[in-house]
Amino acid sequence: MSSPLLALCPRLDRVLRPLPILERPTALEHLERLGRAVGRRELYVKRDDRTNPEYGGNKPRKRAWLLADAIASDRRTLVTAGAIGSHHVLATSLFGRKLGLEVCAVLTPQPVSEDVRANLAAHAALETELHLVHHAAELPFALARTMAAKTAFLDRPALILPGGSSPVGALGFVDAGLEFAAQVREGACPEPAAVVVPCGTGGTAAGLALGFALAGLPSPVVGVRVVPSRWMPSSVPWWIAGATAALLARHGLPSALRAATRLRLRIEDRWLGAGYGIPSAAGQAALARFGELERLRLDATYTAKAAAAFLDLAAAAPSPDDAYVFWLTLSRSPPPGAGADPSAYLGLPPEFHRFFRDRPDGRNA
Ligand SMILES: Cc1ncc(COP(=O)(O)O)c(C=O)c1O
Repeated sequence: MSSPLLALCPRLDRVLRPLPILERPTALEHLERLGRAVGRRELYVKRDDRTNPEYGGNKPRKRAWLLADAIASDRRTLVTAGAIGSHHVLATSLFGRKLGLEVCAVLTPQPVSEDVRANLAAHAALETELHLVHHAAELPFALARTMAAKTAFLDRPALILPGGSSPVGALGFVDAGLEFAAQVREGACPEPAAVVVPCGTGGTAAGLALGFALAGLPSPVVGVRVVPSRWMPSSVPWWIAGATAALLARHGLPSALRAATRLRLRIEDRWLGAGYGIPSAAGQAALARFGELERLRLDATYTAKAAAAFLDLAAAAPSPDDAYVFWLTLSRSPPPGAGADPSAYLGLPPEFHRFFRDRPDGRNA
């Protein structure tokens, strides 16, 4: 399937054509066993865990546009930032390195889990240039300093915002929203009462809501907050959607501006738990249910908390026939190179080695 967004906005094709890294449309599947367990008939999952065979989830959708933009503007280095276990940083490095780009990332600590270690270790194989800062508040300055240094050394850097949630990155989810609306029109599921997605930097939820509005699909997008509001105020997804609509309007789709005034988007704070990267009891229970009943793999930081919200919201729906969709944003395949060699982390700069000490299996690195 080609991009429904390019079909709607053909002028965009002249300046920006997404990289062909997506296997789409991703399936929309009925969650029969999970539905039976919570007394709801119409639960569905959008299988974005399979957007790419090597590394799927929500990352390839944004990167298809972000990296196309970097190549079109003749950049040679990608500079980005995130937490040490960031899927965003890993996917940027994986897809960027395949295109022959250098990748440099500024990382902040987060609670360490095996998922975090796997993502971090994969950077050793990818030869990502990593820098550690001690607090998220240092990121803007560290990013500015890195961009200045790369520019001074003529490395032609492109700044990829944390989470890839710039207007260009969000185009990937406008496109996904149009893809989903077509599936609903074709009868793959009833018009949903809500589509539930984790909300970190906001680009996924913002792009989807704009895509739905452009397609005339009235279903609300529920973004389940996984980061505290001081990192991402609830207004951010609206800003992203507005700026993305302005970008589309500049490229011949003025209806995007009207669509941005009709967004059906809600940010839910109730499932964050103790904070970013800290597993919550409700999230871990949802993770176990998804695994046991549907054989779907979730992670504690993003998808488990969104899954807990999805089950609670569906269970509280006025009618058992209301359809709820869980948008699965985690890659089905594990991070490339992860787990192959337990000493792989030794290839990382020494300041990262402490995240591999005192392993849960009792071994000491
Ligand atoms: C697996 C997963 N789901 C959801 C998100 C949240 O997406 P966004 O940052 O666009 O809100 C992320 C962000 O990194 C993620 O890694």
